[in-house]
Amino acid sequence: MVKTPQQIEGIRRACRICRRILDRLGQMVRPGISTEELARAGEQMLAEEKVVSAFRGYRGYPSAFCLSVNEEVVHGIPGPGKVLASGDIVGIDVGVICDGFYGDCADTFCAGEVSAVHARLIEAARGALAAGISQAVAGNRVGDISAAVQSFVEAAGFSVVRQFAGHGVGCELHEPPEIPNFGKKGTGPVLRENMTIAIEPMVNEGSRKVRILEDGWTAVTEDGRYSAHSEHTVLVGRTAAEVLTQAEYG
Ligand code: CO
Repeated sequence: MVKTPQQIEGIRRACRICRRILDRLGQMVRPGISTEELARAGEQMLAEEKVVSAFRGYRGYPSAFCLSVNEEVVHGIPGPGKVLASGDIVGIDVGVICDGFYGDCADTFCAGEVSAVHARLIEAARGALAAGISQAVAGNRVGDISAAVQSFVEAAGFSVVRQFAGHGVGCELHEPPEIPNFGKKGTGPVLRENMTIAIEPMVNEGSRKVRILEDGWTAVTEDGRYSAHSEHTVLVGRTAAEVLTQAEYG
């Protein structure tokens, strides 16, 4: 779980590319574009960057990207019929493999003008992610991250999804430890310097309950209200985490 300097260099590169693709896809979000078109553009970017998707083929996942619209929480499968309208929000999750190393990041973007509550929902997911990252220091425990994420979300008046968690990442897509988005301070595995982990709160407007659609992948809210997702890969440090998938601009 603790990475060597050489591994960290490789993971750093994968994460930089991952973020560049996420930013470029985010800039393409607008009313009238389909999630299929976004995924196609993303595949072009993967080719340009000479990396491959970490998602396609993972446990049989059928696409290079996860694009989750409105009540879709995570693992939305792109499709030509999924055309964004003004007011929609779309979670874009990008995972890449670069020379055997993995980067994983996600954020939620707005098509046109979204309602004030949905803008707040997205800000809550980002704020919860930042709260979790602030706890990702050596000597802390995984539960410190989990508790920080959960309390941030609940203080904002939203609920946090429990079926999916963050995870170790770097030499594979999913490595130990699991990083739940709810829990108690001072519990769970101890974090060590140079671990690389993905923290990824999924925040629901209404109930925290989710179900999986017939496609076997798409997680949706049970109540049909919206959900937002934000994810970074971070390097656990002695006094602070380093965000490896930090945006380069904007
Ligand atoms: Co992830």
